[in-house]
Amino acid sequence: MTSPKTGADIGVYGLGTMGSALALNFAEKGFHVAVSNREAEWIDAFVTEAGALSEMMTGVADLQAFVAAIARPRSILFMIPSGAPMDEMIAAVSPFLEEGDTIIDGGNANFNATRERSAAMQDTGLHFVGMGVSGGEKGARSGPSMMVGGSTHSWQQLRPMVEAIAAKFEGDPCVAHLGPDGAGHFVKTVHNGIEYADMQMIAELYGMMRDVGGQSAEQIGAVFEGWKDGPLSSYLIDVSAAALQSVDNKTGAAIVDVILDQAGQKGTGRWTLIEALKLGQSASTVEAAVGARGWSSEKAVRVLAEPLLPAGTSETGLPAPDVMAQAMLAGRILAHAQGFRILQAASDEFDWSLDLARISEIWRAGCIIRSALLDEFAQAFRNDLPGGHLILAPAMRNRLEDSIGGLRQVVASAVLSGVAVPALSASLAWYDSMRRARGTANLIQAQRDFFGAHGFERLDEDGKHHGDWNPL
Ligand code: 6PG
Repeated sequence: MTSPKTGADIGVYGLGTMGSALALNFAEKGFHVAVSNREAEWIDAFVTEAGALSEMMTGVADLQAFVAAIARPRSILFMIPSGAPMDEMIAAVSPFLEEGDTIIDGGNANFNATRERSAAMQDTGLHFVGMGVSGGEKGARSGPSMMVGGSTHSWQQLRPMVEAIAAKFEGDPCVAHLGPDGAGHFVKTVHNGIEYADMQMIAELYGMMRDVGGQSAEQIGAVFEGWKDGPLSSYLIDVSAAALQSVDNKTGAAIVDVILDQAGQKGTGRWTLIEALKLGQSASTVEAAVGARGWSSEKAVRVLAEPLLPAGTSETGLPAPDVMAQAMLAGRILAHAQGFRILQAASDEFDWSLDLARISEIWRAGCIIRSALLDEFAQAFRNDLPGGHLILAPAMRNRLEDSIGGLRQVVASAVLSGVAVPALSASLAWYDSMRRARGTANLIQAQRDFFGAHGFERLDEDGKHHGDWNPL
């Protein structure tokens, strides 16, 4: 292990899965990295295991000495649990930092907390960056997508290093400074909301093929495999195809057939819809995905209910694979469109000037939701977008023209077969709501005025009005 004379280019604190992978990635790209960890015994083990890359690392257990080992102005990336541990770390490390130094939180933090931390550091001379990192362990090691918030000062400091370690899409690094304070963490949160929605829609199509079509995991994996090279080409389709075709060592069965059907979650999907609701936006597809994970945890009730509750189904049969592919494509476009609307609403609310085209671009490689569509979204945002809405972009209208019928057929068939497709049907309901110029909220307004005198606007006259309601 060597100590660079001028100090390390960056510090990485927290040598868990993601922190270790990022530290190795920085070292591999030629940056000297000071590394540290709460459990001091991990540090030497990590540096030793880094092999040839250990030449680029300085392992330091003591926090003050760790800070001192980094060149000024310092960039220190913390890969530690979000929430209270981050606040404790800021309090512990700040006394050792100097003007111009930057603390980077690379975890999945709540953007509200990131905003508060940035505000608290405002007049201290120190900088706080919330940075969303996507791509899991492999991405962190070989090229993640990174969504950076915080000050321009910090970005200038960080930029050469994060551009070097980022995934590249045709040479373009998948990292950008998206805005001040919580912008990076907000964009990562919405990324995860879209991730939840995409995963859920794939799982719903799996459910159709399994429960309506009676297909095996291997057969369904082969169907997804067939979608790998077309417009559905994406990391999550690849993951699903490979997972469905993986075999359990113990039983020889498909692994998915021995996995308990209860999904975990750490909270980012839920945050997406909480923030969407606060911004008056619809994230109905994400909400369906989060809700479905919640229902999945009620396994005991579902087991009890299956023989008890009437199905009321009709025979419909399984839609053809290309129809299901259309449904996935339409659902994916609609879920992203909802996500980008939330980003636009947050950008307006917090004055972030988010560049939706650039966000699409940095999601084209490295991150979990990377897909062929992201490049099309980026181009749609770069061109003139009618009403600022992704689904109104000419290229997306063409895509929807070819796929919305498939989504309709799949949702109809699922509904009649008694198979739940909450995210696909939420996407379709949102689409149908958005394409109807004359909706039904006029009756909602009538009801509100009827029982609460809340007033309504008229089509033919300005101002607030009340109805002459018939007595009950
Ligand atoms: C990523 C992932 C990653 C993780 C999320 C989701 O972009 O690399 O989003 O951050 O998979 O934490 O986790 P849950 O499904 O457990 O909420």
